[in-house]
Formats: sequence, C-alpha cells, structure tokens
Amino acid sequence: MKTAVVILAAGQGKRMNSSLPKVLHKIFNKHMIQYVIDSVSMLKPFKITVVAGKHFKEIKNSINSEKIFFALQKQPKGTADALLSAKEPLKGFKGTVLVVNGDTPLITPQILGKFLELHSKKDKHISFISFKPDNPAGYGRVIRDYSENVSGIIEEKDASDEEKKINEVNSGVYAIESEALELLRKIPINLKKKEYYLTDIIRIGLDHGYNVGAFCIGSEEEMSGINTRIELASAQKMLRKRFNSKWMEKSVEFIDPDLAFISPEAVIGAGTRIYPNVHIEGKTKIGKGCVICPNVRIIDSAINDNAVIKDSTIIESSTIKSKAVVGPFAHIRPGSEIGSGAKIGNFVEIKKSKIGDKTKASHLSYIGDASTGKSVNIGAGTITCNYDGMNKHKTTIEDNVFVGSDTQLVAPVKIGKGAYIGAGSTITKDVPPMSLAVSRTEQRHIKNWASKKNKKVR
Ligand code: UD1
Ligand code: CA
Repeated sequence: MKTAVVILAAGQGKRMNSSLPKVLHKIFNKHMIQYVIDSVSMLKPFKITVVAGKHFKEIKNSINSEKIFFALQKQPKGTADALLSAKEPLKGFKGTVLVVNGDTPLITPQILGKFLELHSKKDKHISFISFKPDNPAGYGRVIRDYSENVSGIIEEKDASDEEKKINEVNSGVYAIESEALELLRKIPINLKKKEYYLTDIIRIGLDHGYNVGAFCIGSEEEMSGINTRIELASAQKMLRKRFNSKWMEKSVEFIDPDLAFISPEAVIGAGTRIYPNVHIEGKTKIGKGCVICPNVRIIDSAINDNAVIKDSTIIESSTIKSKAVVGPFAHIRPGSEIGSGAKIGNFVEIKKSKIGDKTKASHLSYIGDASTGKSVNIGAGTITCNYDGMNKHKTTIEDNVFVGSDTQLVAPVKIGKGAYIGAGSTITKDVPPMSLAVSRTEQRHIKNWASKKNKKVR
C-alpha cells in the first residue's frame, strides 16, 4: 500500500489570538507541526507535503525534517481547497492519500498505522478517524444513518441543536484513494463560512458511489485539535503525561509526574528520582541513579550517573560528572564542566569553567573563565575577577590548592599546585606551587583604645 501524506497548515489560526502561525506554537520547545511530521514520518510514507499559506516561509524555515514538500494555498479558502493546493506534489500519485491537520500534535504513528490498515482491509475509498471527546464542542459531528453507517460530517456552525448533542466527532485525519481526489472539485462553498469544507467529501463520496466509512478508533489523548491557547496548554499536559509514563516504565521515579516537565528530546537513566517542579529542557541527558530536587531547571546539559542536583538550581549547556553535588541555589552557566565527586554549593555561580574532580566551592562564589585541578578547596566568597571592562581573562588553579575565604583572584592569574591563599587576599600575581600567598594588611592592636573612646563619648 503506497501512502502520500498531506498536512494541512494554511489556516489562519485566529482563535489563538497570536501573530505567530498556529502550527508554530510550541509544546516543550518543539513546534506543534513538528510533532505531526515526526509521527507521520514513522509510517515511512512515499511523500510528505505540508500545505502552508500566508506564513509559508516561516513554516518552511521552522521545519527541520528533510524530504518534506511544500505547497502554497494562496487564500485560506477552507480545508478542501487546502488539499487541492497539494495537487502538484500529488500529481501522478496512485495510492492512499493520508490527510492530517497540522494542529493535532498528539497524534501517534500507532493510531495512524492502525487506521490505514482498516481503511485498506475494508476496501474504503474514503475514510476518516472519529473519536468521542468529553466535550464535542468545536468539532465536526459524525452523522450516521439507522444502520450506523456514516452519512456525513456536520460542522458545529451548521449543526442543529439536536446534531450538536452527537458526541462522535471528526478528528481531521482522512484516508482518500487517489482516484477519489477528483471529488474535491465538486465540493460546494459553505455559505456561512465562505469556505470549502473537506468534510463534505464524505457526503459527496457516498453520492458518487464510493465506499466511505468512519473508524471510531481515536481517543482525546491522541486526536485533540488545538485551536486555542487553552487547548494548547491541555495538549502539553497530555504530552507530559505520555512522556513521563514512558520514563516511569523505564524505571525513572517521579514524586509527582504531573509536576515534572521533561522535553521530548531528553533522556533519563533508570533509578533517577525527579522531584516536583523540575524542568528538563532541550537535549538534556541525565544518567542513572541521579537525584533532581525541586525547582531545578536543566537545559541542554549532561548530568552523569549518581549526581545530585539540589533545590532551585539552574544548569545551562554544561556537563555535571558522576557523583557531583550541585546546589541548592547554584547557577551553572554555559560551557562549564563540574568534575566527578565535586561539590558546588549554595549561591555559587560557575561560568565557562572546568571544575576538577573532588573540588569544592561550597558557598557564595563566582568562578568564571577558570579551570581548577583536582581536590581544590575554594573558600566562601571567592571571586574570580575575570573582566577588566574590556576583555575576559583566565584563572588557573592547580591540584590541591586551598583558597581561603573572601579571596579575589584578579585574572589572568595562576595558582600553582598545592599552594595556599590566606583568607581575605586579593591575588594579582601568579602564586608558586606549595607556597602561601597573603595580601591583606597585618592586624594590629591599639591597647586601651576602646576605654579612651568611651570616656570621650560619655
Ligand atoms: C476541522 C474539521 C472538523 C474537525 C476538526 C478536527 C473542517 C471543515 N472541519 O475543524 O470537522 O472536527 O478539524 O480538529 O475541515 N487549514 C488550511 N487551509 C484552510 C483552512 C484550514 O490549511 O483554508 C488547515 C489549518 O491550518 C488546520 C486544519 O486545516 O491545521 C484544520 O483547520 P481548522 O480551522 O483548525 O479546522 P477546525 O475548525 O478545527
Ligand atoms: Ca482545528
């Protein structure tokens, strides 16, 4: 069975109240239409065509799949006209045309595969997937005759009060044999909406003696069409449930799967525990046995096995090696690598720096454009002064260095292996290995100073 897919995406999307084309609204940072493309691609069709309109260029540039054809619908004259706009890429095609609305991001390859199988097994020329949502409002209702055969689809706007009560609705997924495409030209304009409705192909197909059917195999979790921001949010919720269930089957532990936001491109290892209000974004990879505490956001990063990310931490485009502990309240900025068994504590900001294995920066520090060796101790309040107002400079700290609290390391500067820096120092010159650097003024005591002062005051 040869299948060509057409994705309709030229509608105006008015109900979103947005300047962005509807199908480019994102769910977990991925365009709505990309979900549809990814699902239909799994069927390995002969061809995929996206029909776009006013936002043709924007849509074309946003889609990151090769081998997609594009067709232009000049005016949004309805779904039947949209399918007709794909006549060029469908020219000479013999087989089944699978039509999918671009605003149904929850659709799965499984349901589409099952549908195409039924369509061909039952020798249909034209068929569509129907489903029974909790609330059918907004969808086209499926009209069946006394023997339960489908006789048409009636849009909400044209439906009588009685017809509005029908809870079986059109999903917007159709299979049409190429020879039945000639019917598209026979569809009359809908006078109320001034559009050509693809749904009319059902009634017209029957009139012309084609074998037409509806397969009520869909569910709301897969078939929901997104027309409003409220529906977009609920689609996100359903996708979240789907992704998180998949990870739970792979032994990831969620304290509350409804409150964990995991990107579809992320990977999580078995035995990792995820607390509520965690956001894992982009292509993040989390290893096995990790703990991700509440209010953590991780973007495009790698968290290796058994690492612990404590509360309210943000990690961007960085690598956290195995058994490292980061947070609470830490900020790991792009280009950083936190070594194995290292500890980055509260109110520590790391930028574009490599922190060696077992190194500790436990409190209140800024480490930028730096690299530290192994087992370095960075005292509370250490600052790398990496910026002179014009350029950024590097700080290098070798293995086993001890940096006392409240130290400023004025870059470029290098601290040699095993050196010590006294607390409160401002280090402007390289420190030789194994030495002690102190740069604060010596403490002195003025005897009886306080009693004299007190006498004057009183
Ligand atoms: C459509 C169906 C309805 C079904 C519902 C399922 C029609 C007339 N109605 O309604 O029976 O229950 O989908 O979600 O088909 N589009 C174009 N060009 C146009 C108009 C629309 O490409 O001129 C595209 C849109 O971008 C969208 C899809 O077709 O991806 C469906 O259009 P939309 O306006 O969302 O139709 P619904 O009112 O949801
Ligand atoms: Ca729709």
